[in-house]
Amino acid sequence: MKRCTGMLLAMVFMATTAALAQGPQEIAGSAHDFRTEAWAGNTGTTATANGDLCVVCHTPHNGNTSVLNAPLWNHAVSSGPWDPYVGTDLQATVGDPDGSSVLCLSCHDGSVALDSYGGQTGSTTMTGAAFVDTDLTNDHPVSFVFNAALAVSDGTLWDPEVTNSGLGGTIQDDMLDSADKVQCASCHTVHNESTLDKLLKKSNDGSALCTTCHAK
Ligand code: HEC
Ligand code: HEC
Ligand code: HEC
Ligand code: HEC
Repeated sequence: MKRCTGMLLAMVFMATTAALAQGPQEIAGSAHDFRTEAWAGNTGTTATANGDLCVVCHTPHNGNTSVLNAPLWNHAVSSGPWDPYVGTDLQATVGDPDGSSVLCLSCHDGSVALDSYGGQTGSTTMTGAAFVDTDLTNDHPVSFVFNAALAVSDGTLWDPEVTNSGLGGTIQDDMLDSADKVQCASCHTVHNESTLDKLLKKSNDGSALCTTCHAK
């Protein structure tokens, strides 16, 4: 009897920890899980030693507030200089990146080392397919306002203020930042919340991501 209760308790315990383990931790195992990277952990603030998933990008205290709305930012920030997207028939006003796109580019444009975080100056810069470069003329434009007026002047965009994104709310709710701007995070989830390939926010099967905003 005693043994039975013990086993039952063990089973309840296992079920509980399994449920906790299924919490929202999609970042683990994604391209942004840096715990096994040689560059993260060899410089003092050890991402690998304590298994910290967040430390390369965030800190609970003394965050870098130089970028608008940067969430407790722990990584050195890029200042370009960038070549913004120019385009052929652009109605939007696209200048230098701002907001959260600057945070992405602080690793992805290759101008700041990946291991420059927690106040340290690192030396490993981004290479390979994920390297976006400071030349943004060949990348989808970011850091510009997308509102109903732009949809009208462009003529082939859905109105972001009323059109459903397919993610629960409107395009404005789900894909634009607090200043109604398109950013890298319009199409990507940095924490892999959607668990899609390339950290995409929404599947691009049949170009579904593109046609969320473009009426093509
Ligand atoms: C690769 C860098 C990176 C890592 C690693 C990372 N974050 Fe973030 N996080 C960001 C960026 C960039 C933003 C702002 C842009 C956005 O929200 O899309 C952000 C935003 C946030 C926000 C505010 C917005 C929101 O999504 O609620 C919270 C909270 C947050 N992160 C928590 C965490 C925690 C907790 C971890 C570790 C388990 C973590 N992040 C790991 C880059 C990162
Ligand atoms: C701390 C540095 C850092 C920051 C900040 C960061 N990334 Fe990354 N990102 C990386 C690294 C490192 C990789 C993996 C590169 C590799 O595997 O070669 C990566 C990979 C990716 C990939 C490819 C994913 C895949 O599955 O192939 C995407 C997309 C991406 N990042 C988007 C973003 C976006 C969007 C932001 C901002 C919201 C961001 N990243 C912020 C370092 C960063
Ligand atoms: C309009 C949507 C959109 C925006 C905005 C956007 N991306 Fe992407 N990105 C994509 C799509 C779609 C893919 C996947 C392409 C593929 O699989 O061929 C991708 C792929 C990537 C990759 C992976 C490249 C590879 O071959 O592994 C990285 C890294 C990346 N994006 C970073 C960024 C960064 C940084 C920004 C902001 C400067 C950004 N993206 C803005 C849609 C976008
Ligand atoms: C969150 C909304 C959104 C998503 C998702 C999106 N775009 Fe865009 N895209 C825009 C807006 C807004 C513009 C600016 C249009 C303008 O200024 O007329 C733009 C601009 C462009 C341009 C430049 C047009 C020019 O005149 O130079 C191209 C090309 C483009 N997008 C293709 C894509 C593709 C391909 C995808 C899918 C991978 C995609 N977009 C996903 C909103 C989006």
